[in-house]
Amino acid sequence: MSTTNTTQTSEAVSTALSTFLADSYSLMAQAHLAHWNVEGPFFFELHANFQKQYEDLFEAVDELAERLRALDVYAPGGLKTFARLSTVPEVPAGKALAKDFVAGLIEGHETTLASALAARDAAGNSGDLETQDICVKRIQTHEKTLWMLRSFLKNL
Ligand SMILES: [Fe+2]
Repeated sequence: MSTTNTTQTSEAVSTALSTFLADSYSLMAQAHLAHWNVEGPFFFELHANFQKQYEDLFEAVDELAERLRALDVYAPGGLKTFARLSTVPEVPAGKALAKDFVAGLIEGHETTLASALAARDAAGNSGDLETQDICVKRIQTHEKTLWMLRSFLKNL
């Protein structure tokens, strides 16, 4: 039976997966912040959508961290460490237009999507199809969310 060789995970896979995890965690925090502070005529819609995003990301970070552990790599964690590892930009802090929260989250999803693509490719190059599968699923979710957020901003 062929399985992933978990004792010889490449440095490239563990680094890319750790960055992807940090970006996902940071994006989760940004979605939560937007959920709290969004205001205006689209409040109910966006408040609920941002919650859906952080709930999805909460499950995603657990899956990514536990995949690292399955590969015998220790997962990074803690806000300071994630802030250091992540390049996800911050949504506005405090009062802002609803569209600016959406625009900020678009940038966050784009950054996290780029990390997911890098992790997918690193896993593919290592023949780690199981990690690649997790990344592919996350890529689909980020692309779908980006489509929805970009659609919201059209003609606004
Ligand atoms: Fe809430």
